[in-house]
Amino acid sequence: MSRTTKIAEGSFAVVYDIGASQVLKRFKDRTSADAVRYEAMMSSHACDAGIPTPAIRAADPEGGTLTFDKIDGPTLVNVVKDKPWTVFWAAREMARLFARIHRVDANAFGAKSLQDQIAAQIQSNDEIPSRVQGGLLAALTAMASMPRLCHFDFHPENVMVDDKGIQVIDWGAAKQGHPMLDITQTVVMNRVDRILQDPGNPPVIVVMLLRKLYIEAFLCFYARFSEDFTYRQVRRDVARLTKPIAAARLASAKPYETVKLKRILGR
Ligand SMILES: Nc1ncnc2c1ncn2[C@@H]1O[C@H](COP(=O)(O)OP(=O)(O)O)[C@@H](O)[C@H]1O
Ligand SMILES: [Mg+2]
Repeated sequence: MSRTTKIAEGSFAVVYDIGASQVLKRFKDRTSADAVRYEAMMSSHACDAGIPTPAIRAADPEGGTLTFDKIDGPTLVNVVKDKPWTVFWAAREMARLFARIHRVDANAFGAKSLQDQIAAQIQSNDEIPSRVQGGLLAALTAMASMPRLCHFDFHPENVMVDDKGIQVIDWGAAKQGHPMLDITQTVVMNRVDRILQDPGNPPVIVVMLLRKLYIEAFLCFYARFSEDFTYRQVRRDVARLTKPIAAARLASAKPYETVKLKRILGR
């Protein structure tokens, strides 16, 4: 009898332990076969480029599943929830990993363009007046062309740790583009995420404080590990890109994010 146990659920998929140190990621209905195929492709390119990420063992895009090596350990969210004093360690390790991802040239991967996707999402939003859209698009096109590997869903639920060290998962949103777009997406996700009041979680005020500490430390550490950007540049570009990224995110926002995204946009 096969041993299949549900171990986690994300926004797009349910993940099962299928034994033999492997997991099966079963996508929910709204994910197309093309999207599953794209995630498989970006996962294996990242792995081949030496990024610590689980190897992909099987892909069935039509059936909506991918099989990966299992990471036998917690996500960084759970590490920090259990031991809040590890927040600076988590910020440092995530920043080190992110800077490493951003050194990879993704031009040859067949990766989609992040700039193009963000521009299309801003233009698709009828609620944003065209004059405002123009300003957001100008901030986007002012960024130099830089075809680096961008994860674009880089948050502590997508980073895990086991005895092999820190590893990143979930490459479905990955693209090629300017690393500061990827950094700003991480900052915006941190600002608009909800805080669940589960009995196992620390009090809301503690979670709010931890999130703020985490993101500030993360940006400092990122500049330290990056070979391309100083802390000044990181802060300047995050400030310039926060509205364009928030506007693009509105196109596919989770319901609880919408109000906060609109607040960032001053609406
Ligand atoms: N290779 C893996 N080994 C162990 N757990 C995993 C693995 N991949 C995913 N998970 C668990 O499943 C959760 C959801 O997986 P993820 O790929 O992030 O799906 P989604 O696209 O829905 O966010 C993760 O946060 C993690 O807890
Ligand atoms: Mg995920």
